[in-house]
Amino acid sequence: MEKERKHHWETVYKTKKPDQVGWTQKIPKTSLEIINSFEVDKTAKIIDIGGGDAKLVDYLLEQGFTNITVLDISAEAIEKAKKRLGVKANNIDWIISDITEFEPKTTYDIWHDRAAFHFLTTEEQISKYMAIAKK
Ligand SMILES: C[S@@+](CC[C@H](N)C(=O)[O-])C[C@H]1O[C@@H](n2cnc3c(N)ncnc32)[C@H](O)[C@@H]1O
Repeated sequence: MEKERKHHWETVYKTKKPDQVGWTQKIPKTSLEIINSFEVDKTAKIIDIGGGDAKLVDYLLEQGFTNITVLDISAEAIEKAKKRLGVKANNIDWIISDITEFEPKTTYDIWHDRAAFHFLTTEEQISKYMAIAKK
């Protein structure tokens, strides 16, 4: 099941450009507004779950955030994001993992998830996600 999930997302990112998928945002306005509403320090630890190749990370870097992690099941998505960011990608902690198998080595101040959680459809996946997020 996990393997199928990964295969699905790798195929999506291998075969589709950002303008060919329905979730792409030029500016992730709502996410930025929510994150900024917390008025945290620029050193706050922020993790974007299922961040894919979304541009949230670009805007957070531009705003001066220094502790950003992007986690995604798809290595292809992470590669695309890294390519787009160039040397700036070195300032991000990239994690390729299924969220349900993620073993955080630290805690995070802000846990962001846009359009990844809802792909977990069984009780087991959802409770694993919740347990990891709570931890
Ligand atoms: C609809 S896209 C949203 C991408 C991005 N968050 C955005 O707002 O543009 C869903 C993302 O979640 C990732 N994803 C799906 N299931 C996942 C899982 N079990 N663990 C980690 N990432 C997952 C996909 O690879 C994809 O990048």
